[in-house]
Amino acid sequence: MAVAVCPGSFDPITLGHLDIIERSTYIYDKVVVGIADNQAKRALFALDERVAMVTEAVAGLRNVVVAAFDGLLVEFAKANEAQVIIKGLRAISDFEHEFQMAHLNKKLDGSVETVFLMASPEYMFLSSSAVKEIAVFGGDLAGLVAETTAARLERKLQG
Ligand code: PNS
Repeated sequence: MAVAVCPGSFDPITLGHLDIIERSTYIYDKVVVGIADNQAKRALFALDERVAMVTEAVAGLRNVVVAAFDGLLVEFAKANEAQVIIKGLRAISDFEHEFQMAHLNKKLDGSVETVFLMASPEYMFLSSSAVKEIAVFGGDLAGLVAETTAARLERKLQG
């Protein structure tokens, strides 16, 4: 069975992430969305909130499972019997960092390949940090995140 991991912080998950996850399901038998408990990044949403948010956002997609991970991505991939890490690439600015991570992951475990999917044009500009900034200033999140995610952002920022 061909299994892929789609990793990220998902703080919050955007429609750009969902586009990459959905397109991955057309290529692989199973897609594991891996939510990193990245202590170095101060997240707006706690890990359990991100797991709940991503789970509801992918509810309509087949063969997708959601799991949190702490530690190395290649170890999470191995634990889930995934042969592939999927990353979305937006602009050239993503490339240098992703190139470095792909090579480091390959060095850590040569059996796991990184595959890049180009972001769809409508999501080229979209990022979790931009979504948070728009949400903080009360901007319209339609077309940027799922409705369930927008509702969570609203609740979080009110609280
Ligand atoms: O959505 P993000 O924050 O860009 O995702 C980054 C992520 C989670 C993919 C990256 O930080 C990661 O792979 N973290 C796990 C730790 C790890 O394996 N580091 C070595 C790779 S260079």
